[in-house]
Amino acid sequence: MQVIDTVEGWRKTLDTERAAGRTVGLVPTMGALHPGHASLIARASADCDVVGVTVFVNPLQFGANEDLSAYPRSLDADVALAATHGATYLFAPSVATMYPRPMVTAVRVSELSARWEGTSRPTHFEGVATVVTKLFAQAGAVRAYFGEKDYQQLCIVRRLVADLDLPVEVVGCPTVREHDGLALSSRNVYLSPPERAAAPSLHRALCAGAAILVGGGTAAEARVAMGDVLAEINGVPFELAYAEVVDPDSLEPLVGALDVGGTARLLIAARLGRTRLIDNVGVIV
Ligand code: PAJ
Repeated sequence: MQVIDTVEGWRKTLDTERAAGRTVGLVPTMGALHPGHASLIARASADCDVVGVTVFVNPLQFGANEDLSAYPRSLDADVALAATHGATYLFAPSVATMYPRPMVTAVRVSELSARWEGTSRPTHFEGVATVVTKLFAQAGAVRAYFGEKDYQQLCIVRRLVADLDLPVEVVGCPTVREHDGLALSSRNVYLSPPERAAAPSLHRALCAGAAILVGGGTAAEARVAMGDVLAEINGVPFELAYAEVVDPDSLEPLVGALDVGGTARLLIAARLGRTRLIDNVGVIV
């Protein structure tokens, strides 16, 4: 696997692959790769002739009170993991390469970015949308793989591709979890042992809410069921940001029960100690 660190080199490499008739899969990441990322790389590798993984810790998507410098970095291990799971190239630009001059241009996906994660992280999704647009512009026509783990991000990326007519096919991939249900995340390393023990309650709450909807219950009843599971967390500082039932496309809150064939997404975000965790599951009735 080849590591590339210039935009010109990256663009030329992928153009050459396409000119030879090969399809390109793109897996954007911020590194600290774990089996969740590996599942995207493996999926891209199964679908596409060549796979480019990008590793870039994007300063634009970190708020002023979020510690960008503490974000885990492990490029050597990332190169090894990406190669093992079928990556052909890894693009790891520096901040100066990605942002050689102050950015005065931004991409904002308005409504979808304002709610849920956007409430506590008001500049986050603009930073994500801007860097993802740059990554797409650099890579050209690709299939791009994103995790359902960050469901709101996936919706925003789908929407920006549609709104801007980008030559990108977005592929959403299922969340990879620990055996106890905790969604894999680079942030899980920050959890203390008691916080780690409590963390699977987020997924249990989502499953409890989903079971209510599948059984014909209302969104309000599903929210109560999620709250009941979370109420059992004790002994660790726990702060719920939201536990919601939403439309899977607009992310607007749902009311009432789902019709037969109806779909919903259950979203949850909470702080366990100092670590903010997010998770979600989908429901089809
Ligand atoms: P990062 O957090 O590194 O995640 C990269 C990709 O891996 C995202 O699409 C994310 O949804 C996916 N992912 C993370 N954990 C996962 C899990 N447990 N199961 C399946 N997929 C998982 O998301 C970002 O980086 C950045 O915002 C980025 C899109 C790269 C823009 O900077």
